[in-house]
Amino acid sequence: MEKNENNALSNDYRDLIPRNGFLFKFIKKDNDFIHTFVEGDFITKSITPTEMVIGKKLSDFLPLKQALMKQRFYEIAWKGETVNYEGEVGDIHYVASLNPLLVNGEVMEVIGTAIDITDKKRNENKLRELEKLAVVGELAAGIAHEIRNPLTSIIGFTQIISERVDDRSLHEYLGIMMLELERINSIVNEFMFIAKPDETMKVSTNNISSLITSVIRFMEPQSNLKGIRLHFDAQTEEIIAVCDQNLMKQVLINLIQNSIEATDKNGEEIKITLGKASSENYYIHIMDKGTGITRDRLQRLFEPFYTTKEKGTGLGLMICRRIIELHQGTIEFNSDVGTGTEVMIMLPVNIR
Ligand SMILES: Nc1ncnc2c1ncn2[C@@H]1O[C@H](COP(=O)(O)OP(=O)(O)OP(=O)(O)O)[C@@H](O)[C@H]1O
Ligand SMILES: [Mg+2]
Repeated sequence: MEKNENNALSNDYRDLIPRNGFLFKFIKKDNDFIHTFVEGDFITKSITPTEMVIGKKLSDFLPLKQALMKQRFYEIAWKGETVNYEGEVGDIHYVASLNPLLVNGEVMEVIGTAIDITDKKRNENKLRELEKLAVVGELAAGIAHEIRNPLTSIIGFTQIISERVDDRSLHEYLGIMMLELERINSIVNEFMFIAKPDETMKVSTNNISSLITSVIRFMEPQSNLKGIRLHFDAQTEEIIAVCDQNLMKQVLINLIQNSIEATDKNGEEIKITLGKASSENYYIHIMDKGTGITRDRLQRLFEPFYTTKEKGTGLGLMICRRIIELHQGTIEFNSDVGTGTEVMIMLPVNIR
């Protein structure tokens, strides 16, 4: 009987159901809010089937925390006030409005409408990321500029001093000073790159296989320390492509570094593969058997300052993506917790 009534209602209410949303109704019975009606595209798209909602209270189909939160809004509506709130079911975000229906000053039922705002949320997040980038860029440019000039004099004078000092015991310290200054210099350059990436790009024709080999040589001492082998597999004939070799090296160093940091098992292997995807594109894959990345972390990887490491800056991947985009390529991650991570880079042989 109740079901027929609901069907009849659904025809009358069809025009009121927001597109990309749903309409629902509930009443209060024995201190519980019971849903008497629900319909709309959104509800079929979301993970909650209609049968699970009708005749049911919130805690019957929602996780306890969400049910309690919604119950608060339902209570306010039952007191006669209109309530608006944002909620989520799985990956879907929606905004809902609860409108009490009053007869002789008493609430008879509450009619709720919900609209899917998932796309809007996604765009908002993207915008926020861009804004963060713009702020980081400005900050980086400012800091790098201020540090660069004094740093150049310090490096120059340290060099002069180390050439003129006779006391042998000081040479060791001066050597360390030079190394550390170089380190600061490279960090400052990295910041300059974040600020103005396209001005620092210098492209030339390069043998990608040799480029990868030289990066592997550079990273090997570090991976050997952890007992990890870097295995390079070049699938086809030589790949000659246009790129900024220093920037491409930086991408590979950052990615291999992440893989080494994620791998803890002695004797494990990190596999780097190079191959032709078509006459115009080539790919580089870096595969590790490290910790892997959870799904919600995967979405945040490229955010500036996103890191799970105590000493990480969280800029590595953001820089990688920028460099790959400057080369008109793409970078994607595939990862499973416990199995490992695969980074897939696709690049054009020629840059337009
Ligand atoms: N191969 C990988 N395996 C597991 N987690 C990874 C891997 N690569 C990246 N991550 C995760 O992504 C986060 C961001 O990486 P990113 O390289 O941008 O910063 P970071 O390594 O933390 O710091 P740094 O700026 O020094 O590189 C890491 O903190 C880590 O949680
Ligand atoms: Mg890193």
